[in-house]
Amino acid sequence: MDPKSLDFKTSWEYAPAPEGKEHIKINARYEHFIGGEFVAPAKGRYFETINPATEEKLSEVAEGSSEDVDKAVVAARAALDKSWSKLRASERGKYIYRLARMMQERAREFAVIESLDGGKTIRESRDVDVPLAIAHFFYYAGWADKIRYAFPGKTPRPIGVAGQIIPWNFPLLMAAWKIAPALAAGNTVVLKPAETTPLTALKLAELIQAADLPPGVVNIVTGAGATGAALVNHPGLDKIAFTGSTEVGKLIQRAIAGSRKRYTLELGGKAANIIFEDAAIDQAVEGIVNGIFFNQGHVCCAGSRLFVQESVYDTVIRKLKDRLETLIVGDPLDKNTDIGAINSKMQLDKISAYLKIGVAEGAELYQSSCKLPKKGFFCKPTLFLHCSQSQRIVQEEIFGPVLSVQTFRTPEEAISRANNTPYGLSGGVWTDKGSKIFKVSNALRCGVVWANTYNKFDPSAPFGGYKESGMGREGGLHGLQPYIQYN
Ligand code: NAI
Ligand code: MG
Repeated sequence: MDPKSLDFKTSWEYAPAPEGKEHIKINARYEHFIGGEFVAPAKGRYFETINPATEEKLSEVAEGSSEDVDKAVVAARAALDKSWSKLRASERGKYIYRLARMMQERAREFAVIESLDGGKTIRESRDVDVPLAIAHFFYYAGWADKIRYAFPGKTPRPIGVAGQIIPWNFPLLMAAWKIAPALAAGNTVVLKPAETTPLTALKLAELIQAADLPPGVVNIVTGAGATGAALVNHPGLDKIAFTGSTEVGKLIQRAIAGSRKRYTLELGGKAANIIFEDAAIDQAVEGIVNGIFFNQGHVCCAGSRLFVQESVYDTVIRKLKDRLETLIVGDPLDKNTDIGAINSKMQLDKISAYLKIGVAEGAELYQSSCKLPKKGFFCKPTLFLHCSQSQRIVQEEIFGPVLSVQTFRTPEEAISRANNTPYGLSGGVWTDKGSKIFKVSNALRCGVVWANTYNKFDPSAPFGGYKESGMGREGGLHGLQPYIQYN
């Protein structure tokens, strides 16, 4: 058959394969989790969390005020002084192992709730988010009784009580990144999930209660930005750990300047994927698609810029366009779906505004011809071709399935343009030549560089940014350091 005659739409049609949700229990209402109990909010206010794929209400969740935050910080301090810091490290480790095992037993439930509440595909939540979250708990459980060997000649102690604020793109995974190292190092925490995706953290709270973790070691207060700000400003905290927008990261730095609070920030990104002419092109194209489209582009380290060496540009773009056409956009719970729902109306509006900006700036817009569901928040996978370095779509984080494409001639040109944004979280290099991988990855000013692959994670590998992408590292031994001080 002449490959040009392939009709991608008909040749890639699949029957629906939705994941069941009958086994999922979502309460009509959720309270804060403070001191080991579910506690009604002091002001009696609740907000809705919806399914962004259908716009239907899933549940209502307590809105945290400064009174609720205070109660949680007091509970975390009491737990630190009375129980958690008195336990042997190996006992702390056992609690974390227990939690990890209980999560494993409930993995399917976590995956479905994550996809319902946040819009990400079941393939991603089932195969990436939930297993990685569990792996984080296992990994840090293992560190609990070995920390003193990891810092020879020093006596590590916990920092104290940590306030932890997380975003909506990896709700359970970010909760794991925050809670697991803090607990392993002997700290207690108050966690605030994002307002559009609170449900898996609250499910985790149910497991924490069932695992008999001493009350107050983990507290979860739900709410939006004001609740987060109340946490940041609470004088009883020793540390703030934040993942989210660079804008809020800067607000947090200002708010805690001059206080005793330590902080780690994991902020935005505008990662560059660089394809050299000697790369395995099909593999590279698949990696680019994985890096920006499979996750709705809702990843701080998403490969949202693409640099292609001029000699292979036409081939790469032709293959990329063909692949775009085969991507299935729609029901996040369908196992065949590649691109699920955009997390919120607000985020979809932001992405749509950038699509207009890109066109106004003179870039060439290319979208797949797929049809979008009538209800819910969805966005077609989009390429911006012939971009130039100064355009906003090249410089600013869009956080959607939108890829801006540029060409280059020499490695030096690719490196200098890849580095030319305010961010520095991650990058990707695609080449057959090992020496080029070393040269380019060393020259990229970012925390993580993947070579001939993309978006791969492991709990033992540190992750974090340069420049406006943040401070500090999470994961690995590096991820314990921000929760430790020395005698
Ligand atoms: P955001 O930074 O406002 O939200 C992240 C978390 O911070 C949420 O839990 C939120 O309730 C909390 N928060 C908001 N304002 C706060 C404040 N003043 N003090 C303390 N906590 C506060 O992010 P948003 O508005 O949801 O998304 C905006 C953009 O941020 C996205 O379009 C994307 O570009 C970027 N973003 C980056 C993420 C990352 O992983 N680096 C994750 C989410 C968003
Ligand atoms: Mg939701």
